Amino acid sequence: MDNKNKAIGVFDSGLGGVSVLKELIKSMPNEKFIYFGDSANAPYGIKTKEEITERCIEIIDFFLKEGVKAIVIACNTATSAAANILREKYSQLPIIGMEPALKVAADGKVDNTIVVMATPLTLREEKFNKLMSQYDDENTVIKMPCPELVNIVENDLLDDEKVVKTQLTNYYKDLNMDKINSVVLGCTHFVFYRDYMEKILNHNIKIVDGNKGTTNHLKDVLRERNELRDENEEGSVTIYNSSKDKRFIKLSEKLLNR
Ligand code: DGL
Repeated sequence: MDNKNKAIGVFDSGLGGVSVLKELIKSMPNEKFIYFGDSANAPYGIKTKEEITERCIEIIDFFLKEGVKAIVIACNTATSAAANILREKYSQLPIIGMEPALKVAADGKVDNTIVVMATPLTLREEKFNKLMSQYDDENTVIKMPCPELVNIVENDLLDDEKVVKTQLTNYYKDLNMDKINSVVLGCTHFVFYRDYMEKILNHNIKIVDGNKGTTNHLKDVLRERNELRDENEEGSVTIYNSSKDKRFIKLSEKLLNR
């Protein structure tokens, strides 16, 4: 098969990357996507770099057996932990990663107060701290680790308003909402909370995520390599999950159609 007609492999620690997959399908409906959720090993945000790297290698080897032309690490945590090593190991393959959309949040302005919601690993890793150092001289950047939000999605509790609102309100209870300009959803699971966030945050607070940026980046890379499928081709989505529990495939489909 020529490279152009191969699939695009998209993976995450679990179901969060489905929020990225949704954006990818919208932008590139003619592509074939294979999604792999590692729910049996989620959450990644409280694991070590080494454990996460090992999981990523196993997942990419699986994608290579399926035949893929590019990989999207639809996970900020796995990107921080392993993207450099993976790009070195699989140098023939375009590997697109994710990082909290701090640049979009700062929007070229100064004196902003920006809250970054992400996993503990993303927030403590060098990658994010380097990025943050470009912005925190002129802005106030508040790190907000939110590992509980990953479990709520994985346990299919996203529609339980009480659970979600209690958790979100708890994160913000000690912050002065009037001082916040933007909130970065720095974990792909958190993108599913956007509607809730709009309700609990002040209306003028900008909420940003990296899904569109990642999608545009992949599209540019494929276009440059002349590997975008033709517009008359029919796209497809195949979902895999490391958990034996079939509920995760159903839940992935539910989130994709949410
Ligand atoms: N969805 C992942 C991210 O974007 C991580 C969730 C987890 O901790 O497993 O960071």
